[in-house]
Amino acid sequence: MHVAAHIPLRAWIQLFIIFVVLALSSACCFGEESSPFSAPGTLAERGHFKQQDGEALYRAICQGCHMPDASGAHGAGMYPALAANPKLASVMYPAITVLAGRRGMPQFHDSLSDQQVAAVVNYLRSHFGNDYADKLMSDDVAQLRASLLSAGGSR
Ligand code: HEC
Repeated sequence: MHVAAHIPLRAWIQLFIIFVVLALSSACCFGEESSPFSAPGTLAERGHFKQQDGEALYRAICQGCHMPDASGAHGAGMYPALAANPKLASVMYPAITVLAGRRGMPQFHDSLSDQQVAAVVNYLRSHFGNDYADKLMSDDVAQLRASLLSAGGSR
C-alpha cells in the first residue's frame, strides 16, 4: 500500500517533466519557422533595418518571400513575382505596398526610413526585368507616409 502510493506519483512527475520539455521545444521551433525574415542578424535593432542600399535591403527583407530572383513563390502562401511585373509601372504602387503592406505582406512603414523605401523601390523598378527610368524620391515617400497615417490606413 505504502509503496504503491509512491509509484504513481513518480510516474506523474516524470510525465509532467516530459510534457514541459515537449511544450518548450515545440514552442521554440514553431516560433522560428513562422519568422518571415530569411537571414537573422540583418536587423540593426528591433524594427529597424540598417541597410541603406536598395540591393542590400532587397536581400535582407524582400527576397525571403519574393525569392532572390524576384520570381515569387507558390506554396503555403502566394508570393507574387516582382520580376517583369507591370504593376511596378507607377512608383506609387510599390511605395504604398512597402509602407502599408498588402494582405499577406507585412507593412514596413515603422521599420524603414523614407530613403530606405525609395532605395528598395528604385532597385526593384530597375532590376529583375523591370526597366523604369523614373525614380521614387524620399520626399514622395514622406508625403505618402503622412497621407497614409492621416487616412488611418496604417499605424
Ligand atoms: C513576409 C513576406 C513578404 C515580404 C518580406 C515582402 N513581401 Fe511583398 N508581398 C508579399 C505577399 C504575400 C504579397 C501579395 C499580397 C496580395 O495578396 O496582394 C506581396 C506583394 C508585393 C507587391 C505587389 C505585387 C503585385 O503584383 O501586386 C510588391 C510591389 C511587393 N510585395 C514588394 C515587396 C518589397 C519591395 C519587399 C521588401 C521591402 C517585400 N515585398 C517584402 C509578401 C512579402
